[in-house]
Amino acid sequence: MYLNQEEIEKFEQDGFLVLKDFVSQDACEALSHRATEIVKAFDPAESFSIFTTNKQTRHSDQYFLESGDKIRCFFEEEAFAENGEPRQSKSRSINKIGHAMHDLDPVFEKFSRTTELAQISKDIGFKDPRILQSMFIFKQPHIGGEVACHQDATFLHTEPLSVKGFWFALEDATQENGCMWAIPGGHKSPVKSRFFRSENGEGTEMEVFNDSPWETSKLVPLEAKAGTMVVLHGLLPHMSYANRSARTRHAYTMHLIEGTADYPEWNWLQRSPKMPLRGF
Ligand code: FE2
Repeated sequence: MYLNQEEIEKFEQDGFLVLKDFVSQDACEALSHRATEIVKAFDPAESFSIFTTNKQTRHSDQYFLESGDKIRCFFEEEAFAENGEPRQSKSRSINKIGHAMHDLDPVFEKFSRTTELAQISKDIGFKDPRILQSMFIFKQPHIGGEVACHQDATFLHTEPLSVKGFWFALEDATQENGCMWAIPGGHKSPVKSRFFRSENGEGTEMEVFNDSPWETSKLVPLEAKAGTMVVLHGLLPHMSYANRSARTRHAYTMHLIEGTADYPEWNWLQRSPKMPLRGF
């Protein structure tokens, strides 16, 4: 056991668990540094994901849909002005890197595969955990976009449902720079929608099961000092507001699924058979 009984019960009750001082300052900085290097090496011409003509939308869909077993950089929606000019430098324009950093990048792999994280996954109920995806989130100064309230299970589906998230604050996350917010206990309601790959495989769609609005008055801020880990239930409604401050809000996140659960092929995230999912 890594978590004590009280922590496990808190997680079951709230749908999230905050573990302060989980990551050392050095490890936080090492991840941010590595992410910066990845962005430096990234050629923006590979991705025009912010443009909206049909052809470019298809290109952007493909860029996203093929990223399940790759390391790709995605722009902030507000990265470019209407005339197409970048608003900030490339390093201050990337929204996130995803989605197989834990398998393909040695620095992120080492961080992601530890005995402590393996133990936490067991403590919260995984029998045969598999790391499905990883993302480095920049939440850039001034343009870091809002992430609307959602459940991760909408985007990462297994039967039975099993997705859970590990989220790490690499820098202080405050209300000012767009920290996470969540509805305590909100994970006890069913999944409200399903995001899936279109039948032709070229785009994505959303099927809504329940269109009632989220009870946003119940959201609480999860302000987190650098080094804090947050464990998130896949049904927990959570969100973050835009970052209008002058500071970044770096975070790293991984999502786990149960290896014995069925993973439908309509999930947006698919991997090459040559790169099967692995655990810790
Ligand atoms: Fe999420």
